Amino acid sequence: MMRLTGSVALLIALGGPLSAAPQDYALPEPTAQLRAPADASHKPGFEAAQGNCMVCHSVDYVATQPPKKGAAFWETEVTKMVKVYHAPIGEADAKAIAAYLAATY
Ligand code: HEC
Repeated sequence: MMRLTGSVALLIALGGPLSAAPQDYALPEPTAQLRAPADASHKPGFEAAQGNCMVCHSVDYVATQPPKKGAAFWETEVTKMVKVYHAPIGEADAKAIAAYLAATY
């Protein structure tokens, strides 16, 4: 009998008062997106990036790179994704993606 009484007391302590107000909090955006291209010439690269660059990881990997790293940096990054991590991206798409990223990030 003593044990049962103890368990009931513990349940009440853990559950808290039944009249507790609901918690209200805002969740962060579930899926961040790539930035829109600055001009129409980078639209194909933007679309190819949307289709290929968030398959394995979030856009944060792109967005958290230091800004204005330039074309050579982004070409190297895209090449690395293809050669090292086997991202299935064709050469033309890879070029367009790198150009879009260099112009946009
Ligand atoms: C086949 C899976 C895959 C695809 C597709 C992919 N990545 Fe990655 N990416 C990775 C892996 C794995 C890492 C390394 C993760 C780590 O080190 O924690 C990475 C890391 C990165 C990084 C962080 C810097 C670095 O070199 O580690 C950047 C930037 C990046 N990816 C950009 C891209 C872009 C741009 C694309 C589209 C062209 C892309 N990724 C597509 C797998 C992929």
